[in-house]
Amino acid sequence: MSETAVIIEREGPVGLIGFDNPPVNAASHALRVGLKEGIDAFAADAGVKVIALYGVGRSFVAGADIREFGKGRKEPLLNALITEIEALDKPVVAICHGYALGGGLELALGCHTRVAIAGLTVGFPEVDLGLLPGAGGTQRMPRLTGVTAALDLIPTGKRIKADEAVALGLFDTLTDGDPRTVAVASGQAVIDGTLATRRTCDLSVDVDPEVIAAAKAKAAAKGKLVAPMKAIEAVAAARLPIAEGLAEEVRLFQECLAHPQRAALVHAFFAERAVAKIPEKDATPREVASLAVIGGGTMGSGIATAALIAGLPVTLMEVSDEALARGRGTIEKNLAGALKRRKLTEEKHDAALARLTTTTAVDALAGADLVIEAVFEDMDVKKEIFRKLDAVMEPGAVLASNTSYLDIDAIAAETGRPADVLGLHFFSPAHIMRLLEIVVAEKTAPEVVATGFALAKRLGKVGVRAGVCDGFIGNRILSHYRKVADYLVMDGASPQEIDSALEDFGFAMGPFAVADLAGLDIGMMTRKRLAPTRDPRERYVPIADRICERGWFGRKTGQGYYLYGDREGPNPAVAGIIEEERAEAGITPREITDDEIVERYMTAMIAEGARVLEDGIAQRPVDIDAVFLFGYGFPRFRGGPMFYADTIGAAELVRRIETYAEDDAFFWRVPPLLARMAADGTTFADLDERA
Ligand code: 3HC
Repeated sequence: MSETAVIIEREGPVGLIGFDNPPVNAASHALRVGLKEGIDAFAADAGVKVIALYGVGRSFVAGADIREFGKGRKEPLLNALITEIEALDKPVVAICHGYALGGGLELALGCHTRVAIAGLTVGFPEVDLGLLPGAGGTQRMPRLTGVTAALDLIPTGKRIKADEAVALGLFDTLTDGDPRTVAVASGQAVIDGTLATRRTCDLSVDVDPEVIAAAKAKAAAKGKLVAPMKAIEAVAAARLPIAEGLAEEVRLFQECLAHPQRAALVHAFFAERAVAKIPEKDATPREVASLAVIGGGTMGSGIATAALIAGLPVTLMEVSDEALARGRGTIEKNLAGALKRRKLTEEKHDAALARLTTTTAVDALAGADLVIEAVFEDMDVKKEIFRKLDAVMEPGAVLASNTSYLDIDAIAAETGRPADVLGLHFFSPAHIMRLLEIVVAEKTAPEVVATGFALAKRLGKVGVRAGVCDGFIGNRILSHYRKVADYLVMDGASPQEIDSALEDFGFAMGPFAVADLAGLDIGMMTRKRLAPTRDPRERYVPIADRICERGWFGRKTGQGYYLYGDREGPNPAVAGIIEEERAEAGITPREITDDEIVERYMTAMIAEGARVLEDGIAQRPVDIDAVFLFGYGFPRFRGGPMFYADTIGAAELVRRIETYAEDDAFFWRVPPLLARMAADGTTFADLDERA
């Protein structure tokens, strides 16, 4: 960070204030101090006729400094500064390039005219952090654009480009060029009278209560986030005189700031970035200009789609022409979906498809820089593939397996180059889900790990470093806590009660609805695979096996825990199976509350998370949080399982586990890490900070 954060200079009658607070010019305390100094100096300088604000580096101002939230407010505050700027006698012009987000956009809206430089992105991402624009954005944007446009942006966090911002009236001019040069020229244009200025606060706006009510209904339908609702209330206050509206905005902002969702969402923001801080971060990634994918099933096709969308040429290999045709068909469908969702333009869609080649010959993969094997989970098949790859791939090529649980060390050992082998575990649908577990085997070279992370970034994914064990980070933890859902069914809850309690907690879908979607045969195969290693002391719930015996595999067969098609709802036959199994096990069902469901489920998740940390499979608690946020639909407003654990506290978690252990001491064991944390009063956040 530069020492001053702001460059203050004069170019004739134009007073220039340049923000220089790398990497994104967040409006930190230092930046605010510098801005105030500049404004005060130029206000007092009779030679300065106009003041121009611009950004040095990548952006104008990317918003308030998120790291300062919750740490007490230090003057000068951004909202007061903006009001001061708006009230100045001298015109102030904002020159925005790169990003003008949140507080940065609010600063621009308080200026007397706004110039956008081509390529600019603007928006209010505050709601993604559990906040609302707290420096006048909710009052000034509606005054400039009307309420409908403001409601399209502020409660959604949507970002728009410069041309749209100008079309909406949020910006006055669109131009091209270097920000400082444009600042000088725009200042001069204001003096010359060719660039008009006005105060946003002098405008007024009508607020239709029906439009507000409709926006609230839309936000409520989207889930449990508090900030979008309060943001809408703040926009509604734009009907008031500006001072009153601003006061209402501050009141609502403070409510958001104090809400637990805000801390969790800020944690999620940093989690997404913290995962890239790996021991191998200084290694130079190998260049990846082309990719090969082996296996054209759902996974392989999804991975190929992600790479094609990211601009990489892909060679897809399958065993037969028929299988290849199916793989190509899936990729075409995926790309058509991306086009429909406007993730791709027509032109990019066609170019992506043109980058795909298919083959049935392993030799044809030889030129690829990185190959990902995504065939079905059979160790012998995978070993054979890696032997072949070892024979044909160029030296330096990276060899990856997309296995969800198999031992990467054993796969790597089949090759004469284990340093080039790693796991790249994608999540289905691979072109949509953002998580990528990057599984580092014993001999994986640091630059191969770095290559995995570089690929994740290129594909727009969140790469998380994981160690080798059955299921790595995510599936290992999942296979543990998922059992709790079955235990609860045996003990008295219905699958629907469990799903609804967990959906109420914030998961998009409960575990039984997810099982039906994934296919109950998948779980059955896992149980079969693990049967030989199952400890006889482990409680086993046969309900899912009984459902599968009937050929009911969930959605794809029209029934599972639920019925699909024209007979929606819980499957009554499953209720019968559950009753029989309870009777067989001699269990009298008991009343189980929603709170108990959530407590047991989450406690099991956290306990296995703690063990994953102890075993070194995940580097830090935040890596586990990222895995669950980006791969398992964990509610973002709860920050991730380990963040959530800290809101409960290690002592309480230990107490819960000890209580549950009275009935099942095999499953419920206190992880030593959690016991130590309870004893010394530490948190998972402390572990993150130490890492
Ligand atoms: N405050 C503090 N740090 C920030 C930050 C912010 N507002 N925005 C980004 N950073 C940090 C990141 O943590 C990262 O740090 P690291 O290198 O140590 O991990 C670094 O800047 C670079 O960020 P990215 O890796 O995200 O860089 P990209 O180029 O991919 O993206 C960006 C740039 C689009 C600006 C993106 O960082 C972003 O969306 N930032 C968040 C912007 C935001 O939410 N602003 C609103 C803040 S709330 C507010 O303004 C309240 C106001 O209404 C009062």
